[in-house]
Amino acid sequence: MYLDKVILLLIMKWVKIAIELPQEDFVKLIKLEGKKICLVKHQQKFYAMQNTCPHAGGILSGGWCKSRNIVCPIHRYEYNLETGKGAEGQRDYIDVYPVEEKADGIYVGLKESLWERFFS
Ligand code: FES
Repeated sequence: MYLDKVILLLIMKWVKIAIELPQEDFVKLIKLEGKKICLVKHQQKFYAMQNTCPHAGGILSGGWCKSRNIVCPIHRYEYNLETGKGAEGQRDYIDVYPVEEKADGIYVGLKESLWERFFS
């Protein structure tokens, strides 16, 4: 299947967050490799996701957390912090990215194509 091949061609690239982050929980816009990411620290755990709401383009980093969901500030659609799945009845989702806390910092896993890996 075509989609399976496309997925196989994608590999993860771990990018370190190079800015200082607050100790307390937050919802914040960061840029990694030129990509806008909504970074969330909720109950001392980090989450990363796309910054644009799929409903009508709201900026998720301007939102807030509620019951393990990010809430879009425009029409208050909600997306699960871990899975990106929209709340019941929304039938949509956002892209979420894996986050790893290592001894030297916080890393976000971004997809990288084989083309980028070998030819850039
Ligand atoms: S733009 Fe995000 S809920 Fe409508």
